[in-house]
Amino acid sequence: MRDTGMQRRGFRLSDWFARLIARPDVQNMASALPFGRGMARRDGAEIFEILQGFVASQVLGALIESGILRDLLDGAQGAEALGFAHGVPADRMEQLLRGGAALGLLRRGRDGRYGLARKGAAILGVPGLEGMIAHNREFYADMSDPMALLRGDGDTRLQHFWPYVFGAGGNIDPAVAEKYSTLMAESQVLVARDTLAMLPIKGAVTVMDVGGGSGVFLSEVLRRNTRARAVLFDLPQVMPSAETRVRDLGLAERVTLQGGSFREDALPRGADVISLIRVLYDHDDETVTALLRAVYEALPPGGRLIVSEPMAGGARSERAGDLYFAFYTMAMGTGRARSPERIAQMCQDAGFQEMRIPRAPRPYITSALNCVRPRES
Ligand SMILES: C[S@@+](CC[C@H](N)C(=O)[O-])C[C@H]1O[C@@H](n2cnc3c(N)ncnc32)[C@H](O)[C@@H]1O
Repeated sequence: MRDTGMQRRGFRLSDWFARLIARPDVQNMASALPFGRGMARRDGAEIFEILQGFVASQVLGALIESGILRDLLDGAQGAEALGFAHGVPADRMEQLLRGGAALGLLRRGRDGRYGLARKGAAILGVPGLEGMIAHNREFYADMSDPMALLRGDGDTRLQHFWPYVFGAGGNIDPAVAEKYSTLMAESQVLVARDTLAMLPIKGAVTVMDVGGGSGVFLSEVLRRNTRARAVLFDLPQVMPSAETRVRDLGLAERVTLQGGSFREDALPRGADVISLIRVLYDHDDETVTALLRAVYEALPPGGRLIVSEPMAGGARSERAGDLYFAFYTMAMGTGRARSPERIAQMCQDAGFQEMRIPRAPRPYITSALNCVRPRES
């Protein structure tokens, strides 16, 4: 972009404004004026929300990991009983429950017992959410020194949770693959539903899901396209859990399981639609460039690629993509949350055209992009 005088002046103005707001005397004056007072209070409250975010998420984590949130489905309980059950003094348990109520997850009844509030109950109804919240413990440990994480000092817990990120494909312990596949499968239902709402797959003959995990996305595709067939391509260690799920869903006749690594093996041909669901953000640009090119080669002219994953905001920062997922993928070691425009550019560089980026109803679940291999290629 060309750096015009206006842009430079605008930038200086905003710097000057920030310096002004940062002056204690200006803050004092603002809180004495009616308009400034409202703004200072709103800013203060929002700053405090950011500052206490880690305490809020740890209280949420404690309610999930202890099983208290789920136990309250059976009815309200008091701090005394819960404290006894969890080996926590009653007055401290009361504090946890009050904290949960302050977050709108619990509600305190007139008798002093605590039950589930709407948001607390909703957490239990969202597939995979409890697992994701409990998994935050790994990420939380990596975030304890964010500057060390940014500098890339040392090992992270998430690198070990996702061993394939450094290309360990062939050497992954199947038990580790089973652990991450289960976590993904639980949350994939929501991702699959949002993706297919944004980009319905209609009239496809064969859909191949690359890095498809245990097949949740494909099962949603096949449920909606009763005549379609599917290929699930993922690391060989993931195949046993995929096989079990596909068989349990009665889809064994319609799904071909293909173990392999997209780093080393050619992708199978024959699919007219290929999907990459929560795959690209795991990997560096070099791996993604090679993968997109391999997908392009595997598709026939007119074939379609669907990418779906949480994405960064691009020109405008966005909370889920530029905070949570950006730091999560950084802690994995190789990944990054990319904006839809960046992914579109990478797809275009691989040869794709007709980019479409639908509006994401829940960007914290997923965003999506559709593109096509040109007919004349
Ligand atoms: C974050 S998980 C997403 C799984 C699934 N698509 C979902 O959304 O739940 C990434 C998947 O990519 C697979 N994967 C990673 N590296 C791979 C490789 N080199 N070849 C094939 N699959 C790979 C992993 O085994 C894993 O199943």
